Amino acid sequence: MARGSLGSECGAGSGCVHHKPRAGRRFFRDPSPSHRCWAPPYERPWPGFRRRVFGLPSPPLVARLPQVSSGGQRDPDLSSDMASPPAAAATAATAATDSPPPAPPAPAAAATGASPPAADQAPASPDFNVPQVGIEAESAEIDDGDSAYGDDLQSYTTSLKSTVLNYRHENGRRYHGFKDEEAKYFFPNDDMENDRLDLFHHILTLSLDGELHLAPIGDNPQRILDLGTGTGIWAIDMGDKYPSADVLGNDISPIQPSLVPPNVRFEVDDLEDEWVYSSKFDFVHCRYLACSIRDWPKLMAQAFKYTKPGGWVEFQDMDTRFYTASGGIYTQDNVIGEWADTIANELRKFGVEPDPGWQLLDWVKAAGFTNVSNKTLPLPIGTWPKDRKLKEVGAFNLIQYLDNVEGMTLRLYTSSLGWSPDEIKVLCAKLREALKNPRMRIQHNFYVVWAQKPWDAVD
Ligand SMILES: C[S@@+](CC[C@H](N)C(=O)[O-])C[C@H]1O[C@@H](n2cnc3c(N)ncnc32)[C@H](O)[C@@H]1O
Repeated sequence: MARGSLGSECGAGSGCVHHKPRAGRRFFRDPSPSHRCWAPPYERPWPGFRRRVFGLPSPPLVARLPQVSSGGQRDPDLSSDMASPPAAAATAATAATDSPPPAPPAPAAAATGASPPAADQAPASPDFNVPQVGIEAESAEIDDGDSAYGDDLQSYTTSLKSTVLNYRHENGRRYHGFKDEEAKYFFPNDDMENDRLDLFHHILTLSLDGELHLAPIGDNPQRILDLGTGTGIWAIDMGDKYPSADVLGNDISPIQPSLVPPNVRFEVDDLEDEWVYSSKFDFVHCRYLACSIRDWPKLMAQAFKYTKPGGWVEFQDMDTRFYTASGGIYTQDNVIGEWADTIANELRKFGVEPDPGWQLLDWVKAAGFTNVSNKTLPLPIGTWPKDRKLKEVGAFNLIQYLDNVEGMTLRLYTSSLGWSPDEIKVLCAKLREALKNPRMRIQHNFYVVWAQKPWDAVD
């Protein structure tokens, strides 16, 4: 099925990028009255949307050239203080769930049980301290004849230092240049990877029913910080959604587009360095930095310091752990499980934390935040779930993995394990085959934790 024919007639009206030119998105507009839009009302992109929407043949080398700095110089001109109204705190307090950390290991959930698609608390997996969230499969039986997804899957379908731009090229992929010698980050920063990040943004906003965040930041936030912003897609959407706010995104790679809303800007920075912002933020957001960060408690402490009293933080992240809680044939010794184990183990050798998701809640509390809330979202891989939204999430998630297992594997396996690119290609072919097997009923978790800095906090 061709893109555009899935889903109902676009009901988003002027809220849809397909219909309304918006800052940074005016290149994509389909005036055709017969246009059918598969994007949900909260509208989101698809792989390659950056090039289509922003009209970019490739990401620009420099994001907001005059304002991007590397290292410690930054944040010279964001407007400063704005106090979040105490009312926001009251709202938050009622929303808080303050759940305990994941339960100790328990036996895996059985067969095709229909559990709620999202849970604030969930049992832990037997192999890892990962809570399992059951997803009801579309069919009760594992069909022996159903061995792979077919073609129908298609249907879901600054004055910068030279080091910053001095990207490293390895085995046909491009990697960050800034602090490259410190082996900061093992995944590419090229078009293919950036498309994956944009697709994952779509998966996450779909999972959150179109929300960009769950923290109750009110309608009038003033300063927002997005840590490890990637392509900047979340920051750009936040700039659109909150015209009141100055949104700052940082990343070690200047891969963000230059055509962005006027209240959005980007900096090249290592978020694990000491932060030197001139004023604090109403909202600090940090998403999908699994396999990136070495010292999470330090990151949380810095987030605490640079959040205004009464301000909010939100962490959204995952584990490198897969499981089935729906009677699938997946087992941990499957090629996917072994691959995930290897990625996690090798990253740990470099001091990088591969599994922050389930630990976020404890870290946030330990940092001193209050009104802590959390939600654990199941992210299926494949179209096996019965639930329509999860089926769509699973379809996009499968595409995300199929297209990019090589990008996730290459640098780590070559540099740490000494594998050849050819060996990796063979492994990735096996991974793709396993991922495409709907009988696996494979899923992983995405954790959302949001919390408030106490009004009376003393730094
Ligand atoms: C998986 S991507 C997530 C991007 C974005 N947060 C999102 O949700 O779309 C991880 C990003 O973190 C960036 N990153 C990794 N280590 C970093 C560090 N120490 N400081 C700043 N950015 C970092 C990478 O360059 C990459 O863009």
